[in-house]
Amino acid sequence: MTAKILDGNAFSAKVREGLAVRAAALKAAGVTPCLAVILVGDDAASAVYVRNKVAACEKAGMRSLKFVYPSDIEPAVVFAKIAELNADPGVHGILVQLPLPKRFDSDAVLEAISPEKDVDGFHAENVGALVQGNPRFIPCTPYGVMEMLKSEGVKLAGAEAVIVGRSNIVGKPMAMLLLAESCTVTVCHSRTADLAFHTRRADILIAAVGRAKMITGDMIKPGAAVIDVGINRQADGKLCGDVDFESAKEVAGLITPVPGGVGPMTITMLLANTLESAERVAAERQPEKAHK
Ligand code: GUN
Repeated sequence: MTAKILDGNAFSAKVREGLAVRAAALKAAGVTPCLAVILVGDDAASAVYVRNKVAACEKAGMRSLKFVYPSDIEPAVVFAKIAELNADPGVHGILVQLPLPKRFDSDAVLEAISPEKDVDGFHAENVGALVQGNPRFIPCTPYGVMEMLKSEGVKLAGAEAVIVGRSNIVGKPMAMLLLAESCTVTVCHSRTADLAFHTRRADILIAAVGRAKMITGDMIKPGAAVIDVGINRQADGKLCGDVDFESAKEVAGLITPVPGGVGPMTITMLLANTLESAERVAAERQPEKAHK
């Protein structure tokens, strides 16, 4: 059996078309959705991600603001910029690209962003809301994964879902979202005693560890939906995921490639969160039109 390969670029383009229509409607009503992105330092991958995020905004008819600081900038300057953006009614989403230089207290920076504009969903208040099953902003990558699973009609209720990786950005919020859909969720990590024992039981396998090709075909249940969140650069410069695609696709029922799988969906859901934030602002301004 060979797995169905899920084309994240095509799915993403379809979702973004719908977002652009909503953005245009909002713009016509006088509110242009606006995302502000802050980048500190000269990490090459982060610079590419930020460039892609800004370009995607423009293409979807949204505004974007970009603030780039050298890695030796005083944290106070960044905090002051966040405070200014928090107070600006024309800004609907604020994103600080991670990782920040080591001198920064990343948690303190994320907490400084207004929870109403925290389109990454990383603020403690928004993490708490997600855990309680009442999310305000869903972190973009897990949000994109859920949209892909749902669009493919993958059975969620009662399914065994195994996540490899326990990061705040992917693993933990992913677990909450799958739990909310009534999956039985297992979270594995670097200290898991027998990783293959767990992965072989997975109807839905989410790989988010950041180790090139560590999930091989023999670790996958036949017919499983395999979602590869990893982006690793190989010695030859090419990108690969956390899943060994060649061996995995012979066993899985559905699989996402790297690149061209989950990656484009992360930016798409960032646009969706920014748009939702702007729609909330517009509805508050014109309560009589909110139910139209
Ligand atoms: N770095 C890697 N992924 C992300 C993300 O989703 N948001 C932010 N802000 N930084 C990241």
